[in-house]
Amino acid sequence: MEKSIVLIGFMGCGKSTVGSRLSYRMRIPMEDTDKIIEREQGVTIREIFAQKGEETFREMETELLSRLAERKCVRIISVGGGTPVREENRALLKKCGTVFYFRLKPESVYKRLKGDTTRPLLQCEEPLERIRTLLEQRSVAYEESADYIIDVDELSVDQVADRVLNCLDRKM
Ligand code: S3P
Repeated sequence: MEKSIVLIGFMGCGKSTVGSRLSYRMRIPMEDTDKIIEREQGVTIREIFAQKGEETFREMETELLSRLAERKCVRIISVGGGTPVREENRALLKKCGTVFYFRLKPESVYKRLKGDTTRPLLQCEEPLERIRTLLEQRSVAYEESADYIIDVDELSVDQVADRVLNCLDRKM
């Protein structure tokens, strides 16, 4: 495999979990942009949103993505759910590697993330409504960025990983 595998999709779609599984199964390293930002900043994403605002976080995402796009080694890259919204990020994602969009329905997101306190965008009165709105706003950006789309609502972590590997096999 010459290109990295890039995982995109809404919060809760399993980018990080499937990414770790792929990393283990394929024996290649994994990078998670949210985790890198937290490590570099020394605070959580939630704290960044609260203290510096969403726009500053988006700047950090783009800056990190440009750095990752310059690196040549093959790996799994999992990015935050909002990354593909910016046009320049979409170009950078393509530059990073083969992009997989893990698509899921709003109800599945809601079920998976009920009670989660780490996603600042979902700390509101009507999280399901917020999920619906954001997904609707973002779906074109996700689809535009993707080389492959996998519907993950009913799939286990290993089943999603299998689909990714099948797509790559078919390509080679
Ligand atoms: C965000 C998704 C989060 C994180 C931040 C914003 C978004 O990442 O980057 O809370 O805008 O959808 P995950 O998709 O890994 O939860």
